[in-house]
Amino acid sequence: MQNLKIDSQRLWDSLMEMAKIGATPKGGNARLAGTELDGQGRDLFVKWAKDAGCSITVDQVGNIFARRPGTDPDRLPVMSGSHLDTQPTGGRFDGVYGVLGALEVVRTLNDAGVETAAPIEVAVWTNEEGSRFSPAMMGSGTFAGVFGLDEVLAKTAVDGGVLGEDLKNIGYAGEQIPGDHPVGAYFEAHIEQGPILEAEGKPVGIVTAAQGQRWLEVEVTGQEAHAGPTPMPIRKDALVASARMVDLLNQIGMQFQPNGRTTCGYFQASPNSRNVIPGHVFFTVDIRHPDDAVLSQMDAAFKAGAEEIAAAMGITLEVRDFWYSPPTPFDADCVNAVRAGAAANGHPSMDIVSGAGHDAIYMARLCPSAMIFVPCEDGISHNEVENAKPEDLAAGCDVLLHAMLDRAMA
Ligand code: HGY
Ligand code: MN
Ligand code: MN
Repeated sequence: MQNLKIDSQRLWDSLMEMAKIGATPKGGNARLAGTELDGQGRDLFVKWAKDAGCSITVDQVGNIFARRPGTDPDRLPVMSGSHLDTQPTGGRFDGVYGVLGALEVVRTLNDAGVETAAPIEVAVWTNEEGSRFSPAMMGSGTFAGVFGLDEVLAKTAVDGGVLGEDLKNIGYAGEQIPGDHPVGAYFEAHIEQGPILEAEGKPVGIVTAAQGQRWLEVEVTGQEAHAGPTPMPIRKDALVASARMVDLLNQIGMQFQPNGRTTCGYFQASPNSRNVIPGHVFFTVDIRHPDDAVLSQMDAAFKAGAEEIAAAMGITLEVRDFWYSPPTPFDADCVNAVRAGAAANGHPSMDIVSGAGHDAIYMARLCPSAMIFVPCEDGISHNEVENAKPEDLAAGCDVLLHAMLDRAMA
């Protein structure tokens, strides 16, 4: 079993075939959760999984599970997967690599006629990105009992869609109760989405943990007024106040280097008319750090500073806690299985903490879990230019194969 290798060309070809669905002019992908294109990507995966002899289960929040039987009916499945939904200007590898890498493991075991004691399952999680519907990791979070099913199915998208309706429309409103699906161990392969592995010249990242995240929603209310006659000192300009708060957010991120991260990704001013002083702004806050106490410190610093800005400008401020994902260590035995996989395949590797959120974070609440990272070009992701080398993708997939076999054999 030691020298079993995945088929690098088949993996690459599958990734490029999937990338045709929702292809964007700049070479990226846009398959937003719950859309027709998300449905087409899911359909292609299901076809391939069935072609590989897997049975398919879909749960009520649209998570897909493709199962390759094991020889021991008492063993819980060893699962691997990720997501097929993308950012609006996403890339061809974020999430997709983890789904099709796991499918490549199944295909490789089929080619080699390898029977595993435990079933092997490939998972496609609904709405990992948290872009069209928020928060992120919604399908795995519901599976793990973090989010309520009704609450999630009622979520409204930024474009007005409702998740439950959208899942019905694309044919993925399944029967299984989310989480009524015991799992023995979970592995997820993913591009790093940062610059470390490439800079260190390592094709494999052994992910020991994922950093914590706090997402906030901010409503800033001033007073709409005429841009001409209204003197500067008496204005209640919601956009200027918000701009100062976003700058504060960035300063906090810089203050908590090297690991602190702060981002305002969504910013909506109204009435958005060039000669009206903006009366209202809604914006989002994304704060991250691997240390929970520091994450709380950064969160508190933003809230206190924003209050000061609002008070000084006579502006009304509402800051809502929207989502909290605590720093998550991965299972030592699974991490060691990944480490052993890299060593057995002769792939240079290094330990790394995930800066991004992944479905494995919620799976870690249910069963022993770990992740495998591979480099992406210039560390760029959530961008249409996202790229990765076939040989790195293959290296990570070989490690995935090894780690899954370590947990699935008798
Ligand atoms: O935001 C994240 O970390 C992930 O891409 N959903
Ligand atoms: Mn991802
Ligand atoms: Mn992503």
